[in-house]
Amino acid sequence: MDTVRNLILDASAVARVCGPDIGDLRTTLFNLSTAGIEVWLYTAEYPEIVRQVSALMRGDSSCFDEMQSQAQELLKSNMPPFQWLSTLSGDLEKIDHTDLLTQALMTAAARLGSHTRVVTTDLKRVKRGGLFIDEEAVRSLKVERKVNFIDLATQQKCLRSSLEENIHRVLHHGSYVMGPEITELEHRLMQMSGAAHSVGVASGTDALLIALMASDVGPGDEVITSPFTFFATAETIALLGAVPIYVDVDPFTFNIDVNRIESAITARTKAIMPVSLYGQCAEMDEINVLANKHSLIVIEDAAQSFGATYKEGRSCALSHLACTSFFPAKPLGAYGDAGACFSQDDELAKKLRQIRDHGQDGRYHHVRLGINGRLDTIQAAVLLAKLDIFEGEVVSRQRAAARYETLLADKAQEGLLAIPVVLSHNTSTWAQYTVRVKNRPTVQQLMSEAGIPTAVHYPTSLYRQPALEQSTVECEQSDRAANEVLSLPMHPYLTDEIQQQIAECLFEAIDASGACPSFSPKENGVL
Ligand SMILES: Cc1ncc(COP(=O)(O)O)c(C=O)c1O
Repeated sequence: MDTVRNLILDASAVARVCGPDIGDLRTTLFNLSTAGIEVWLYTAEYPEIVRQVSALMRGDSSCFDEMQSQAQELLKSNMPPFQWLSTLSGDLEKIDHTDLLTQALMTAAARLGSHTRVVTTDLKRVKRGGLFIDEEAVRSLKVERKVNFIDLATQQKCLRSSLEENIHRVLHHGSYVMGPEITELEHRLMQMSGAAHSVGVASGTDALLIALMASDVGPGDEVITSPFTFFATAETIALLGAVPIYVDVDPFTFNIDVNRIESAITARTKAIMPVSLYGQCAEMDEINVLANKHSLIVIEDAAQSFGATYKEGRSCALSHLACTSFFPAKPLGAYGDAGACFSQDDELAKKLRQIRDHGQDGRYHHVRLGINGRLDTIQAAVLLAKLDIFEGEVVSRQRAAARYETLLADKAQEGLLAIPVVLSHNTSTWAQYTVRVKNRPTVQQLMSEAGIPTAVHYPTSLYRQPALEQSTVECEQSDRAANEVLSLPMHPYLTDEIQQQIAECLFEAIDASGACPSFSPKENGVL
């Protein structure tokens, strides 16, 4: 049998697992679910599950409420962790020669994808074969244990009911553009960041573009930024005809080196755009002092740092303007593109709102040029569900980072790798957990062959990108980082065991790559 990722237990299988005569099916299912197979119960079968499970207890109750509470108790105490698979209206529409519930189950199973089977003890269903498998087949399932770079599936499991509820609410009220969820989300983002204004937009890239437009950045202007970041940071500056002026990064945090900013300021400088890389804020106080001295606007590229703290403040509330991304892989991610701008200034916030909606100050009255940069209502609905667990998830990321630090400490001390440095006045959201290694291509290749996914954020300084090339620029620390950084799997659901496996694999790969000790204690945070 090919790899199975989802098992739906039908009512007969649920009763079998909950009943007294279970053999080892319950244990098998527990083991499979621990190894990453999702176990589902189908909501359309709920009355049948209740009937069959409660029949196991006394079997004589005709009161559904009573049967229901008995069944709930049994499900709680006997079942492996399961999720409820929703019934969609389409499940009940396809009627062929099969009975309606069997057909609905088959339709729902198909929705989960081809790696799905329905476990049953119902002989009629067993006989159909195909999707339906019996206990014996469950016992012979092979599990492929995978290490994920990020784990949105486990997060979805934790949030399934609120995600479904929120998305369905939008389907029903029908305000797909600028619906009520946008205002609610903006309010919550303001509360969480401490910013005076928050404006939901279509992506992190649009957030940067809109913030630069609100700062009146245009042709001939210069914007000081980091060369060691995602392309969008400088792309948006260049899109407006302005010139990104790259200032090298600090070799420990990879954020813009504040000691080098002032010498880059000229009469054409309009703004400073620091990037809070990997989830750690740039040195915003020093940057704000310089900006005030030279009358510049500060735009924090906080695409990776929403939720991070800096001294007494929080990312996105530390400068005139800030921009974040809700790209799915970000610590707070939507199910598509989304982002937000933030401002501490009423006038700037008004401009942000106008620019995201074609420069309108009222319907069909355009007071400036803008873009269609609005956030989709459905994405706001997804983000509202995710915000409920976001702070807990950041704490879990911080715990995972602390575990990595312990696991990697010895090798870091030997100088075989460098671990991330978070300054004492910062907390990171750990958008990435990024180490530095020598012989990175070999290390990455060996880890990939061993089943451990890694990523490189980012392989090239932006002034070397063909579309943004500035051949006279040389930022030594940025180039060095681009050659050495390696991001390890990072998400709130990482376990001790998996992290140990990742660390061992990294050590073996470093050994096999023939790398020599090259990193100083200072590069490992011993300042
Ligand atoms: C530092 C940085 N800036 C800007 C962006 C752009 O955000 P988005 O992908 O939402 O447009 C990203 C996203 O990857 C980023 O990491």
